[in-house]
Amino acid sequence: MAGHKMSPVAPAIELIDVSFTYPDGRVALRDINLSVAPGETLVIVGPNGAGKSTLLMSLNGLNRANGSLKIGGTAVTDHNLPEIRRLVGVVFQDPDDQLFMPTVFDDVAFGPLNMGLDVHEIRHSVEDALGLVGLAGFQERLSHHLSFGEKKLVSMASVLAMNPKVLVMDEPTANLDPRAKRHLLSILGELPQTKVISTHDMNAAYVLADRVAVIYQSELVAIGPPAAILTDEPRLLEYGLELPTILGTGRTWKTRET
Ligand SMILES: Nc1ncnc2c1ncn2[C@@H]1O[C@H](COP(=O)(O)OP(=O)(O)OP(=O)(O)O)[C@@H](O)[C@H]1O
Ligand SMILES: [Mg+2]
Repeated sequence: MAGHKMSPVAPAIELIDVSFTYPDGRVALRDINLSVAPGETLVIVGPNGAGKSTLLMSLNGLNRANGSLKIGGTAVTDHNLPEIRRLVGVVFQDPDDQLFMPTVFDDVAFGPLNMGLDVHEIRHSVEDALGLVGLAGFQERLSHHLSFGEKKLVSMASVLAMNPKVLVMDEPTANLDPRAKRHLLSILGELPQTKVISTHDMNAAYVLADRVAVIYQSELVAIGPPAAILTDEPRLLEYGLELPTILGTGRTWKTRET
């Protein structure tokens, strides 16, 4: 079956000439060509309205883009969507779009439950996922009573509980306080998944990325290692971006929580 061809050399993500137009006719992605290696962290930067979220939502078929889009060699097609959704976990920018159950346990257990795991396995995956994000003991808390930062971590746990191969996160550090941001970056730095992360935080991009992709006016205009992309101030300014402030300070911007 085409959906089960998993070549060991297949890129984790491969986009060839991917385009997307919203129903109202607005073109949000134009001819994107991109390949992400297994285990790689690709950070996507670009100004408001560039197409970052549109691109992220195409990776698990939430947006049905045109062109060829493959996850671990499996094409994102209507037929393969259930498999694609198991492979690609998406953490939305707003945790209120992700959490809808009464308790934290229910929210994190939702995915594993739908995957048909038994009660014992579900308990385990919920504990593991909450442990990974540093929220052990939060099971019985009410999701809608948590702080924004806590909700963000719970929504991340709810995705990790399904053990996706690819982790997609839309602006994970937005609205987090500095310590919560460091905590999240340190968690992300230790997760083995292939990651695609959008951010407006140039420091986070610099710290997290194996490669940085710049999306500007629906097009992929630059891609490369952070030391190449995020040090080119004239080009960054041209794209409405800026240098990471940690550059030139000599700080390594430790991501571990202090
Ligand atoms: N549902 C929609 N219908 C029509 N146009 C949309 C829709 N969602 C987004 N757009 C448009 O598509 C373009 C890309 O939007 P997108 O949300 O992908 O940008 P972004 O890079 O994520 O921006 P931001 O940094 O503000 O989150 C924008 O011009 C936006 O107005
Ligand atoms: Mg966005």
